Amino acid sequence: MNAIPGDNQIPTCHRGLENLDEEHDYWIDEVDGDLPKDLQGTFFRNGPGRQRIGEMPYGHWFDGDGMICAFTFDSGRVHFKNRYVRTPKYLAETAQQAICYRGFGTQIPGGLRKNLLKMPANPANTSLIHHGGHLLALNEGGRPWAVDPGSLNTLGEFSYDGGLTPGQVFSAHGKIHNRTGDYINFGAGVSGFGLKGPKPCLNLYRINPKGSLFQKAQLPLDSFPFCHDFAMSDRYAIFFLGSIVFGNMLPVVLGTKTISDQVNFDPSIAMRILVLDLETFELVRSFETDPGAMIHFGNAFEAGDEVIVDGMFQDNFAANDTLKDVFNPDGRFGGGHYYRYFLNLKTGASRAEKVVDTESEFPTFNPSVAGVRHRYTYTACSIDNGADSFFNGIAKVDFDGSADTLALPQGYYGSEPVFAPSTQVGGEDHGYLLEVVYNGFDHVSELQIHRAENINDCVCRLRLRHHVPHQFHGLFSNTVFDRGSRSELEAI
Ligand SMILES: [Fe+2]
Repeated sequence: MNAIPGDNQIPTCHRGLENLDEEHDYWIDEVDGDLPKDLQGTFFRNGPGRQRIGEMPYGHWFDGDGMICAFTFDSGRVHFKNRYVRTPKYLAETAQQAICYRGFGTQIPGGLRKNLLKMPANPANTSLIHHGGHLLALNEGGRPWAVDPGSLNTLGEFSYDGGLTPGQVFSAHGKIHNRTGDYINFGAGVSGFGLKGPKPCLNLYRINPKGSLFQKAQLPLDSFPFCHDFAMSDRYAIFFLGSIVFGNMLPVVLGTKTISDQVNFDPSIAMRILVLDLETFELVRSFETDPGAMIHFGNAFEAGDEVIVDGMFQDNFAANDTLKDVFNPDGRFGGGHYYRYFLNLKTGASRAEKVVDTESEFPTFNPSVAGVRHRYTYTACSIDNGADSFFNGIAKVDFDGSADTLALPQGYYGSEPVFAPSTQVGGEDHGYLLEVVYNGFDHVSELQIHRAENINDCVCRLRLRHHVPHQFHGLFSNTVFDRGSRSELEAI
């Protein structure tokens, strides 16, 4: 057991990153508490399910293969299922029990000859979206992978009927627009070639509620952006281009360095904020603020001349070194801090306020208030409880009140808390926070269900028969899907 240095009683978070190679399919029978009767639907999670092939670890947390988990709340019981996404990388590396593809921070063993001119693979491991009749596993390094929402079988790489060409990547953080039901997403791209080489841009995509990609646009940029997420209000898409930047990519192309090696935090670079009209995708106004970076955003909304944006601000990228060596017990998983930005579209003035002091990441909120003024945001947070630095708590931020926090016991590690609305009509926080927690003492995971109205009221704990490696993002759908099989990798 990995333990806190100097204290062999408290397990660290690092063992929670060991592989879950097995694929399970069972009703959860170890239930502590009362399962809420007003919770019906499916809670999906995505994240790297394995960090090693045989004895060979990947070179970065981001390179583990995508494994989808589904907790189905069905008539008073909860079913668990997990399945890996059958990407070419997963299939080849499983068959050969060796690293066969490059990644964001992983090289193929064998040196230059093996890596020259090889593109990083798409592990489909970051998030999910259910929209237009499709459940898609997403990673910003490639196109989506379609997964059957009931069986979790892989259906194939997804292109919106060719709307996404093979080189057009699609971010893990598209958003559904509340008023229209359209799904808006983006990807870093190339708009052409000039005397200085490729011309960087943001590709922008709009998909209607029937699942058709019907609008595309390109926003020219001065350099390739490190842009993982964006914010969306009712009328605007807001992109923060921060101080995390790509250096010289030639060694990456030549196979001597990884992309992760060439990503740097440059404190001399100010953060640029681009506000785009959501109808036309044209730039409305840009702002320049202090250096920093925003990895994940909460909600955004408009108030008079201002657009107000919530997000997690980072003033460094030191965590990237930890992510390259996830089993190192000394590695520290740093989070950001919750900030609110006020952007005046009329005057061009901007200001930022720190919302809470607690180190936080993965902001979530009730999706019914997406794009309009909201009251509550929930975050995964790191609280000093004597154990190591991974997420070990939940914060509920009340903009008409204050922040409430929940700290897990030492040796328990949390994840992104996803809001699941009650099936009964109620206020903005009438529902539950679904939180997968890793119990380092027993090396098992459990799903904790907290009342969103009072996050310290854990109404139910559902203990799994195994651990779930720490994952990135999830979503709650109010649909109970048919778990019958549908053939894998069928043409779509
Ligand atoms: Fe993310």
